Amino acid sequence: MVEHSVSPSGERFPLPTPEDHAAELRRLEELAAEARRNGMEVVVVMGLGFVGAVMAAIVADATDAEGRPTKLVIGCQRPSTRSYWKIPLLNRGISPVTAEDPEVDPMIARVVLEKRTLTATFDADCLKLADCVVVDVQCDYAKQDLGNMRTGETDMAALESTLRTIGERIPEACLVLIETTVAPGTTEYIAWPILKKAFAARGLTATPLLAHSFERVMPGRQYVASIRDFWRVCSGCDEPARVRVERFLRDVINTEQYELTVMDRPIESETTKIVENSYRATILAFLNEWSLFSERNGVDLVKVIAAIKKRPTHSNILFPGPGIGGYCLPKDGALGYWAYEHILGFEDGDQVFRMSTAAIDINDTRGLHVGTLTRDALRNMGRHIAGADVLVCGASYREDVGDTRYSGSEIVVRKLTEMGAEIRVHDPYVDHWWEFESQDSYPAPGRSLARFFRNQEHLADLRVQQDLAAAVHGAEAVILAVRHEAYLDLSPDDLVAWAGQPIAIIDCFGILGDDAIRRYFELGCEVKGLGRGHVQRIRTEVRAGVRSAGVAAG
Ligand SMILES: NC(=O)c1ccc[n+]([C@@H]2O[C@H](COP(=O)([O-])OP(=O)(O)OC[C@H]3O[C@@H](n4cnc5c(N)ncnc54)[C@H](O)[C@@H]3O)[C@@H](O)[C@H]2O)c1
Repeated sequence: MVEHSVSPSGERFPLPTPEDHAAELRRLEELAAEARRNGMEVVVVMGLGFVGAVMAAIVADATDAEGRPTKLVIGCQRPSTRSYWKIPLLNRGISPVTAEDPEVDPMIARVVLEKRTLTATFDADCLKLADCVVVDVQCDYAKQDLGNMRTGETDMAALESTLRTIGERIPEACLVLIETTVAPGTTEYIAWPILKKAFAARGLTATPLLAHSFERVMPGRQYVASIRDFWRVCSGCDEPARVRVERFLRDVINTEQYELTVMDRPIESETTKIVENSYRATILAFLNEWSLFSERNGVDLVKVIAAIKKRPTHSNILFPGPGIGGYCLPKDGALGYWAYEHILGFEDGDQVFRMSTAAIDINDTRGLHVGTLTRDALRNMGRHIAGADVLVCGASYREDVGDTRYSGSEIVVRKLTEMGAEIRVHDPYVDHWWEFESQDSYPAPGRSLARFFRNQEHLADLRVQQDLAAAVHGAEAVILAVRHEAYLDLSPDDLVAWAGQPIAIIDCFGILGDDAIRRYFELGCEVKGLGRGHVQRIRTEVRAGVRSAGVAAG
């Protein structure tokens, strides 16, 4: 039976068979030969995910001073049922990742169809043609418990197998550039030995040219710019690799305006990535305790943060949403903690790593509190959470993007479901919330957050709705979980009219202004919010105002 890979839009692509390899390699060899005749280099990008697909297009779009293309890019992706569809789609000039950045789709169409400098393949033998290989496969951190990252471990199986595949095939003068975020030490102590061993097995005497330069990509409206027009950090395992990686990056990204930092050793550039993301995770996590403090003492954390931000030295303080998601922040500090013991050989990791680890645990569990707030808001309206119809507005991990990986909203949905609520979801940017629809197999079998909660089975039927008015109809509670543009200026009167009744409204992201909060109370709603203790004061004022108006009228 022929196996298929199904794209997110439902198109079915048969997986290639062993007989397809010879023809595919011939196709790539012809393309590479032509590129070489035109003075171009061949670059293979391993992994066509969120980072690799766009990085491949950026490299393929690079030109010399005369505007001539300098690189033929071959994007290589495993022909698995889960991912193969990315290859035929990309070869039609269609981006395999959905992006809000208007630059992504035309750039991919241009380099594939017009400039013909990007092609995608399933055939790892394309590595034999490479002058440079860019590694953009995933390196995960598998947590075993919710709220205790210390019991987890780094899962670098995909990265290690990719490196073996590379070592078995590349020419000896080929540069290998790891862009994957890795546990510090990986490039020198895991990847380099894999490549050296593979070279030795092939009888090659050269030292593999290996470098590291992490990605700082931000999915969203600035997707392309966050790769191409952004400050980069790089390093090589030795001097020849350092020289090559610097030259490559200067060729393909905008290092004229955005300075390239070259570090002495890969462990330094690896650590830079881990520290910058741990820093971000930590400044968000430390506000969780002040968020609870604010809720319990009549303080509005939104105003506290706005007042602090006025100081230029404190301008990057951020209001934390219902959980700190995205692919990077929940795991990167954990990669450092894990590396300290398992790659670098120290045994006092638990004494040394106290803040970065606590930050991840706090961020991973912040969303649970939304269950409590929703329960209390409904109770104040004489309703029960069990059986209540609750609409969650926003599935993605941050505003105005369609990326749902490790979003705080997932924890919110799972906790409320465990408490018996009936959940619906609205998100203008998300068509499929795979964390639920495919919870048996996504992000990998046995890895769904479903395993930390009761009664999750039926969430596989959860579908994301696009029409807000229809989604809210009949809801008893509405949770504003993400600062999507569509939610910022929602009229309380409209929302209550669409719901058909007063609602409990839970603001997880400092979205509601005081006028809106007041209006919700006037309409008979209940309001609660993460870090928003002042809502009780507004509630008291409105109730008192209604009473005195009533007394005056009577
Ligand atoms: N997504 C982000 O926002 C972001 C930001 C900065 C850094 N990063 C880092 O970039 C790296 C890649 O992240 P991503 O978001 O692109 O991940 P992803 O899961 O979207 O993509 C990885 C891709 O690699 C493919 N792959 C795995 N093994 C392969 C192999 N042997 N051969 C060919 N392809 C293979 C997978 O099928 C997948 O398509 C990670 O280390 C991540 O931490 C991601």
